[in-house]
Amino acid sequence: MIRVAVAGAAGKMGATVCDAVTGAGDMELIGRADPALGTTLAEVLPNVDVVVDFTRPDTALANALECVAAGVHVVIGTTGFDLEPLRGASGANVFVAPNFAIGAVLMMRFAAEAAQHMAKAEIVELHHDRKLDKPSGTAARTAELMAQASGSPPPPIHSVRLPGLVAHQEVILGDLGQTLTIRHDSIDRAGFMPGVLLAVRKVGSLTESPVVGLEHLL
Ligand SMILES: NC(=O)c1ccc[n+]([C@@H]2O[C@H](COP(=O)([O-])OP(=O)(O)OC[C@H]3O[C@@H](n4cnc5c(N)ncnc54)[C@H](O)[C@@H]3O)[C@@H](O)[C@H]2O)c1
Repeated sequence: MIRVAVAGAAGKMGATVCDAVTGAGDMELIGRADPALGTTLAEVLPNVDVVVDFTRPDTALANALECVAAGVHVVIGTTGFDLEPLRGASGANVFVAPNFAIGAVLMMRFAAEAAQHMAKAEIVELHHDRKLDKPSGTAARTAELMAQASGSPPPPIHSVRLPGLVAHQEVILGDLGQTLTIRHDSIDRAGFMPGVLLAVRKVGSLTESPVVGLEHLL
């Protein structure tokens, strides 16, 4: 059994992760850390193999460093913070994914391929209005992958924040007399859970750390 604790357990993603871990036959939910629940990360770290972090951009890095220092692997879904300080952290493994939905990973792959063949592109990312970071981690990662693949500068990103949305992205590519639109929609947070559980199962056996992107586990 993999012993798991969730940081941000009272949040929208964290609560969904708690349910998914509880429902997984090979995992045990040991702790729920969240200021809203009156429980700190330090309280749940003993006797845990993996922490899953869906918190806030201003706390995810400190949480991850705390986990690694305690020898606990960490799976990070929080977006909008600098990953650089994680590169020197040793003691346990770190896995980060800006998007745990398989459809979003495919969207990024297809966009990178299309960017090699079409003249220009722009990205429109649309999220619920309580999202703290802008642009989204998924859009930033898509732009990075497209730039790497095409050798061109990263495409511009447009951010829309409205109630009613969950997480959506369109990559629009344009060329002479034609456009191509690649679109992904997350309509339920349950869609992220197979990717999160996969990362929990694999983070302990990574041969390097940090690893960024669900595509590396598929
Ligand atoms: N990678 C992905 O696939 C993916 C998908 C959706 C959302 N996200 C990201 O996940 C993060 C969380 O999103 P959300 O919608 O669940 O937010 P949310 O605001 O609903 O939840 C965040 C929770 O973190 C808690 N928290 C704050 N500081 C904490 C700390 N130091 N330790 C533990 N918990 C703490 C808050 O009290 C809150 O309950 C955001 O960065 C969002 O962009 C990533």
